[in-house]
Amino acid sequence: MKFKGQHILSTQQFDRMGLLSLFAEAKKMEKVIADAKKGKESKILAGKILATLFYEPSTRTRFSFEAAMLRLGGRVLSNADMMQTSSVRKLETLEDTGKVVSQIADVIAMRHPEKGSVAVFAEHSDVPVINAGDGSNEHPTQALLDLYTIWKEFGKIDGLTIGMIGDLKNSRVQHSQFGLLKNFKVKYVLVSPRGLEMPAAILKEMGDMAKVVLTPEDMVEKADVISVSRIQKERFVSEREYKKFVGQFVVDSELMKKAKKHAIVMQPLPRVDDVAVEVDSDPRARYFDQVGNGVAVRMALLKVVLKG
Ligand code: NCD
Repeated sequence: MKFKGQHILSTQQFDRMGLLSLFAEAKKMEKVIADAKKGKESKILAGKILATLFYEPSTRTRFSFEAAMLRLGGRVLSNADMMQTSSVRKLETLEDTGKVVSQIADVIAMRHPEKGSVAVFAEHSDVPVINAGDGSNEHPTQALLDLYTIWKEFGKIDGLTIGMIGDLKNSRVQHSQFGLLKNFKVKYVLVSPRGLEMPAAILKEMGDMAKVVLTPEDMVEKADVISVSRIQKERFVSEREYKKFVGQFVVDSELMKKAKKHAIVMQPLPRVDDVAVEVDSDPRARYFDQVGNGVAVRMALLKVVLKG
């Protein structure tokens, strides 16, 4: 697949070869990070500017996009609170903001609460736009770093069983994980609170490869990868509605006793009563390592989008 000059909006754009080549590139980027820490900084993207436009809260995604650009010798313009401090307040449309920012930056990373909004913005941008999360729809770069984490861990993705637990209905991360995992031969074991099941369209596509189970125990017994999502509070109509679900399924040390010895626990973070803090010291926990992998993967993506 061709990356140079492309918008990165959906996991559907990726094929197996493209993913594997991106992972190889990300592995090289880990060396670039190590060199930078020793004072030998990269100039791969010198002269380029990344703009990060965030219409929804973020810690990891925005920082790691920005760190990725800085590690490659590029520069960053950042707005972490577009809803309050940009011309949205003066009723500027997404279309116009797209035209404007693309006159200023060479690449844009954008997060927005509405499904499809990043794609609308991208249609009006003359420079590549990378989707950093659009509502409950997709979060392709998180899924890229998640698959990179799995690939690094197991040296392969084919043949694994992926357990998914949490708010499968609203988690854009798990939706995007599936979007990329489709390129490999994997099985799924899914468990969620009743009412927060995986959307029917995704279940249909998973077909025979997926098994829906009723308890977290049934899931961890089979899973090589335990992919957890928090209950996505901001997608609920009320606090009351959200509270019905939070804390129902928790990955804790008790549950981990039933998990495979070689299994890994992934969570994009933030966690909220879904992975107990006691699991942090379990050698199978990978959620903090994922954050570091995210910088390397976003470096790889920025490089291939800007330079090929
Ligand atoms: C995720 C997101 O924003 O979708 N966070 C992240 O990017 N690391 C997951 C979440 O908020 O639950």
